[in-house]
Amino acid sequence: MATPSPLARHPAEFVGSFPDPAHRLEPALPEFAFIGRSNVGKSSLLNALTGRRALARVSSTPGKTQLLNVYRLEPCYLIDLPGYGWARAAKGEREGYRRLLERVLQTRDSLSGVVWLLDIRHPPSKDDQAFHALLVASGRPVLAVLTKADKLNQTGRAKALADRTIELGLEADQLQVVSSETGLGIADLGTAILAAAQEIPA
Ligand code: GTP
Ligand code: MG
Repeated sequence: MATPSPLARHPAEFVGSFPDPAHRLEPALPEFAFIGRSNVGKSSLLNALTGRRALARVSSTPGKTQLLNVYRLEPCYLIDLPGYGWARAAKGEREGYRRLLERVLQTRDSLSGVVWLLDIRHPPSKDDQAFHALLVASGRPVLAVLTKADKLNQTGRAKALADRTIELGLEADQLQVVSSETGLGIADLGTAILAAAQEIPA
């Protein structure tokens, strides 16, 4: 069994769902937004990180609910944003969702960092690339998390990590390979988030 995430030692609770990207959280604590395409494994990752089986709600209608779902862990907030899937959504919906992400990234002063989830098996999609552009424009610190690593063997994983690192144009220390299924990389990701939370004054 993999080492549990250090975040699992902290009390965790669901704070609420907020439609306003500028909604202020009290008390002020460092905030980390979890973003990625629909079905990439965000809810599973939040549950694995916090060591709670069912803390994060699994959205029944991806792309429909444009809310910030907020979880509080003693030292920080984790914000689960709706999964993007712009290619499949209606035009108006796509625009609304893009605006939500833009406002979160550009105007949310309390946001300390972005945890960007990508499926380790696939090169970044058009939606991922569009999000990447928003991310770069915002200048926010980012940690890219490559999910579902258990779906590849060790050789496949190493090759995929090398490929994704080049495609994403990130430094090696900005990528973390994880599996919510086996626990691979979960403790390291928890440690990175905790370290960032403790470094940043709220
Ligand atoms: P939306 O909320 O709809 O955007 O999805 P999500 O990104 O929250 O993904 P979710 O955690 O609901 O997982 C989607 C599917 O992928 C589920 O069937 C999970 O069981 C599966 N899954 C998530 N993480 C992993 C993983 O690490 N390994 C494997 N094998 N499957 C995973
Ligand atoms: Mg989800």
